[in-house]
This record gives sequence, C-alpha cells and structure tokens, in this order.
Amino acid sequence: MDTVLEREEAVQDIETGTLDVRVKQIRYEGKGINSYEFTSPSGKPLPRFEAGSHIDIHLKNGVIRQYSLCNSPAERNRYVIAVLKDDNGRGGSRAVHESIAAGDIVTISKPRNHFALSEEANKVILIAGGIGVTPLKAMAHELEERGVDFVMHYCARSAEAAAFGPELERMQRSGKLRYHFDDGEEANRLDLRALLSEPTPGTHVHYCGPGGFMAACADAVSHWPNGTVHFEHFKAPEQPKREPTCTENQDGCDVTIASTGLVVHVGPNQNFSEALNESGIEVPTSCCAGLCATCKVRYLEGEVEHNDFILDDDDRKEFLTICVSRPVSKTLVLDL
Ligand code: FES
Repeated sequence: MDTVLEREEAVQDIETGTLDVRVKQIRYEGKGINSYEFTSPSGKPLPRFEAGSHIDIHLKNGVIRQYSLCNSPAERNRYVIAVLKDDNGRGGSRAVHESIAAGDIVTISKPRNHFALSEEANKVILIAGGIGVTPLKAMAHELEERGVDFVMHYCARSAEAAAFGPELERMQRSGKLRYHFDDGEEANRLDLRALLSEPTPGTHVHYCGPGGFMAACADAVSHWPNGTVHFEHFKAPEQPKREPTCTENQDGCDVTIASTGLVVHVGPNQNFSEALNESGIEVPTSCCAGLCATCKVRYLEGEVEHNDFILDDDDRKEFLTICVSRPVSKTLVLDL
C-alpha cells in the first residue's frame, strides 16, 4: 500500500508535471565537468528513479535538456547530474555551466528511463566513454546494492578528464572499475573486440558514450544475442543527408488524427512535428533529436522511417517519435 508521503508526491506530479528542486551543491568532477546536486526544497523525498533514468532540466533561456542521473537510485534525498561543458554543442551544457548557481531553484521533469538496467543478468559489463559514464555510474551503484556481479570500464581522454575520481575510488580498488585513458599506457587501452569476443550466458552489456565510441561498441557486440546489449546515445549521431522518403510519388502523406478525423498533410520535406504544429496540434517535444522519447506517439496504420535512437524494434511496430520520424506511406493514422 502507498504511504501517505508517496500519495502526496503523486498528486504534486500529476498537477505540475514537473518538480522544482534546489541546487544544493555544484562540484568540479573533472576537466570541463561539473556535477549538480538537486534536493527537494521542502526536504521531502524525491520521486524514485531507476538506474539509467534521465531528467529534463528547464534552463533559464527556455531551452530544455536531458541529463542522466548518476547517483545511487537508493538515494531518495537527491538527484545528481554531471555535465560536460561543450563549447561546440547546441548551447545546453554551456547554459547549465554558466547560468545555474548553488541555491537556485530549478524546474525539472520527473525521472524517465529509456536505458533500463537488465533485470535478468547475472553479470553485467558497463562500458563508458567520456561523459557517457553518468547513467552507467548509477547502474554500478545499483548493481553493487543488488549484489550482482559487474565490471565497469571507463574510457576517458586522461585522468584529469575522468569524473567522480574520489567517489569511485573504492570501486576501483575492488577491481569493479577499470580506467582506460587515451594518453595512458598502450597496454591499458580498452580492446573492445577482445573484451566482448565471447558472449557468456547471463551476461548483459550496457554502454554509453560519444559517436565514435558507440560505433566501436556496436561493432564489437554485433554477434551478441538479442536482448543482451543495451545502449544509450547522449548525442544524436551524425546522419548522412537524406533525400525525402515520403511516399512513392513524393507528394507527401495524409496523416489522420484518430480521435477527431482531422487530416494533416505532411509534405515530402517535413517531419511530423512541423506539420502537426502548423495544424495547431501540440505534441510535447524536448530533445528534438530522437533521443528522449518525449514525443513518442502510437500509430495505428501506415509505414514510417523512424530515425530515432531510442525505440527498439518492438516499439517501432507501434510507436514513432514525431520529432525525427517521417512517413513513408501515402496515408498514416496517429493515435492522437
Ligand atoms: S523530442 Fe526527444 S525524441 Fe522527440
């Protein structure tokens, strides 16, 4: 049965859809990386989260960005994210570093999880590339607490560029965490192919990191059985420029809104998001890059070019992400 406290929290979440939290602490974690610890201003426990979850941060400039929670899911008193300042990025990480101060009240979403830790694994290999360590660190904490065998490989440019050093020291000493630095000894570089050469029954792999690292991991695990490999992109990979794929005759697609019967025309160079917005149909979006699933919508008929980095094959039979998906068939029905 729910406790009174949990029921109170649920009411608050339904009413607001977001939470206001206080920035309790900002800490230097590594070169260019700060961690941000958020607590409840009322002192009440925060909604529970699972390892792999992320939250949306609503920044002062109106931008919303997603960051993985990196602390232990057993902690109910705080959420911790870590952000690498990317001067060549879209501006979100710069805004976090430059506009958030200790003591501020920040609006966030409830945690959502599209990178769940496998429940049935009896051994887990976590492979982190750079700031991709954040969701994997939460997983390492959870695996320790569950008593599941795991090892985390953390690849970074250098020791200075690796985050959470003191916090992870105990894990390193116990042999659960192994560092691999680009500027370190050749013999200590991570050989992904060797590490992942032989899938063993009950072992699952989770990885997260930048584009090149993700491609190398995908290549090294390509022979692992379905369902044993889990990953999350924190940035949309570069995509080759596409020609319009919508319909055989390139005239676009008529999308029917199931609840109202309204037909919205999606042009051959448009995605769903643009066309729906122009027709006054609002579907919430966040990353606009196929990474967060905020804009996931069920479709009832039609064919879709998905282009996202979050839905698996089963999801794709039923759902599309309106920010990056495009219609392929001439007609399509959305469950809106
Ligand atoms: S808004 Fe993030 S996947 Fe569409």
